[in-house]
Amino acid sequence: MRKRIIAGNWKMYKTIDEAKNFAQEVKGKLIESEIVEAVICPPAPYLYELAEITKGYSIKIGAQTMHEEIEGAFTGEISPTMLSNLGVQYVIIGHSERRMYFNETDQSVNKKVKAAFESNLTPIVCVGESLEERESNKTVEIVSNQVTKAFLNRTGETIEKAVIAYEPIWAIGTGKTATADDANEVCHAIRNTVEELYGADVANKVRIQYGGSVKPENIEELLTKEHIDGALVGGASLDSNSFLKLIEAAS
Ligand code: G3P
Repeated sequence: MRKRIIAGNWKMYKTIDEAKNFAQEVKGKLIESEIVEAVICPPAPYLYELAEITKGYSIKIGAQTMHEEIEGAFTGEISPTMLSNLGVQYVIIGHSERRMYFNETDQSVNKKVKAAFESNLTPIVCVGESLEERESNKTVEIVSNQVTKAFLNRTGETIEKAVIAYEPIWAIGTGKTATADDANEVCHAIRNTVEELYGADVANKVRIQYGGSVKPENIEELLTKEHIDGALVGGASLDSNSFLKLIEAAS
């Protein structure tokens, strides 16, 4: 069985004190588990302090994006080695909001996946279709293409360590969650794409999350599905009690 992963993407929310209080409160309530791992992805300015607060506890820290270069004249950007040196272990790559507002492309995602692995970071690679693409029955084509391009020229032993997050754009922040069956169908298609590229063994190991209006009220049904190994959660991860309920549901 694949180890489940529940990751909270805080986006651009919380003050530093709210972030530190969240980490202090949650870290003591999570125990080491073979079934599920918990990750929080705070805004970049909070990464160091939250990594320090949670060091040695059963909660890991992720970044919400990164640059593909180790260093250089890239004003405002964050290097993968800067993240790993802070104790960050995961990094979200290719989130639809980065693709929509900050010119993230399949090509830049591919470069960032490579750079993440080279800096001992586990990438959480986001893929997902727009409402128009879903209504045109292009979901599987779009998502499979994104997965193929994200991992192009990568090796199987690296991909099996990656996390892929299926986040239908129309479900993000809208309260409209994909049905568990629909989400599972697309996650299955993602796993089939990985199998076509890297074989059944790698496909069976790679972890696939669902993201898009996941809440404690709907996560249990999602996690009953064979191809869903966790969730990438926005709004419902901001409250510590809600986040703990999500972890409990996955345990
Ligand atoms: O990355 C997770 C995020 O896009 C989902 O947001 O608020 O719909 O859970 P939300």
